[in-house]
Amino acid sequence: MDELVELLTSHRTIRRFPSAPVPDELVSKAVRAAQCAATSHAVQAYALIQVTKPDERSRLAELCGGQAQVQEAGAFFVLCVDQRRHALVAARNSLPLASNFESFLVGVIDASLFAQNLILAFEAANLGTCCIGGLRSNLPAVDELLELPDGIFPIFGLCVGSPAEPSTVRPRLPLNAVLFRDRYADDEQLLAAIDTHDAEAEAWYAQRGAPGRNWSGSVSRSLSKAARQDLAAFYNSKGAALH
Ligand SMILES: Cc1cc2nc3c(=O)[nH]c(=O)nc-3n(C[C@H](O)[C@H](O)[C@H](O)COP(=O)(O)O)c2cc1C
Repeated sequence: MDELVELLTSHRTIRRFPSAPVPDELVSKAVRAAQCAATSHAVQAYALIQVTKPDERSRLAELCGGQAQVQEAGAFFVLCVDQRRHALVAARNSLPLASNFESFLVGVIDASLFAQNLILAFEAANLGTCCIGGLRSNLPAVDELLELPDGIFPIFGLCVGSPAEPSTVRPRLPLNAVLFRDRYADDEQLLAAIDTHDAEAEAWYAQRGAPGRNWSGSVSRSLSKAARQDLAAFYNSKGAALH
């Protein structure tokens, strides 16, 4: 367990990569391991699309909001919720596919557990990773570029490669803001724990050349405006039923 905890606690997102590709055998091995994640009723509601064409990587980098790592990383993947396989087997069994918010959520949870296993497998091979939620900024264009069929819902991208940057582990909330016994904490306890985290986060930001920032300020600012309001409409247009 100690070795695994060491791996987990040394995680940090990597955003700069030299161009060395990630060997296909390593990708296959990591994906096979990631597939062993728990999955609701074994539905395995995810698909991973590796984008290998340089021109498509370059276009995706733009579509993700100008994130150069999408183009530069050794490998780039698009993680999708996959209800297409379910639609195919349902049709073959002459049954309807009952899509609703729950089935989409099941897919997002399944895909996220798979993705975290995948990240760990790559990190265990001394590679760095960067999840790319920016993929959701231009989903219709991503969908068109990758010619995704109905029932395939991209949720985020993943860059993988040898780390080209020294990078520090980003602090996390203290245990008493996350782990509760029997009942959730009261607001004062929670805010005190957040103050502790703000102090650590402020030191982390200062080390990275952004003094005066802390966690609660950054999070409050980024959550003050609703993001990507057109996602449900897009996913619905591809066969989801998010009402
Ligand atoms: C679903 C998801 C989407 C993310 N999207 C982006 C992104 O678009 N660009 C980026 O640079 N980092 C992205 N990140 C990385 C987070 O910013 C990073 O995980 C967080 O700041 C914590 O830092 P750490 O991973 O180094 O511990 C994303 C992370 C997750 C889990």
